[in-house]
Amino acid sequence: MGDARPVVQREVVSFVRRSARMNPSQEKAWRDHADWVLRVPTGQRSTSVAPDAHLDWADAFGRRAPLVVEVGGGTGDVIAAVAALHPERNHVAFEVFEPAVASTLSKCARAGVDNVRVVVANGVEGLTTLIPDAALAELWTFFPDPWPKKRHHKRRLVSPAFAALAARKLAADGVWRLATDDPGYAEAIRAVLDAEPALVNRFDGWAPRWQDRPHSRYEAKGIAAGRAIRDLCYGIREGVRQ
Ligand SMILES: C[S@@+](CC[C@H](N)C(=O)[O-])C[C@H]1O[C@@H](n2cnc3c(N)ncnc32)[C@H](O)[C@@H]1O
Repeated sequence: MGDARPVVQREVVSFVRRSARMNPSQEKAWRDHADWVLRVPTGQRSTSVAPDAHLDWADAFGRRAPLVVEVGGGTGDVIAAVAALHPERNHVAFEVFEPAVASTLSKCARAGVDNVRVVVANGVEGLTTLIPDAALAELWTFFPDPWPKKRHHKRRLVSPAFAALAARKLAADGVWRLATDDPGYAEAIRAVLDAEPALVNRFDGWAPRWQDRPHSRYEAKGIAAGRAIRDLCYGIREGVRQ
């Protein structure tokens, strides 16, 4: 007799979830700002998004506004600062690491912003399921984990499939902003995005540093180690959205 247990297919993901232990100030932020964390039904993993999950963004923010999504926001250095600069936009971070989400909440509180919401989930699934097509004013992927070993490249967030997904979610005038301090990943990202027919580079090669973007913890580490920071900015090719 064969084993009757169903075979569970484990998808390759771009993260390893570490211990979710929080320090006292992160615990406090988590409690104080629980209403900024949006709950969604999960799927196979605790970080999955159930395929039939739905979020009403106007309801989540209490208003309709241009939507900006960050995948892998880490401790929220960028989203808290940029949300303060752009109160006219609704900002959403997908982040799998709960202590980092708690730090994001306290940075947002310190910045005095109320236009950030966080979903503790895999951003690939979040984008796929929770974000309507052609809805994004901006998508951000800043300092995604570089997974430098060749055998781990399949874990990299920015892949041809992710580029196609991003292109589907961006509005006709939407932009995808990226940055990395890993030279190999920078070249690989550029090649992947150049190969996606729906996307077009907004600059001639590397983008200038986006002036609204503050230095995040990861960027600071890259700079301290003497690595060059590469920015990229892509939009939707003319004629793709009719
Ligand atoms: C290297 S850190 C960079 C964080 C931040 N962007 C910065 O510049 O400081 C990458 C972050 O992405 C998160 N992450 C990786 N893959 C993710 C995914 N598929 N969905 C949500 N978060 C993800 C990790 O947990 C980690 O916090």
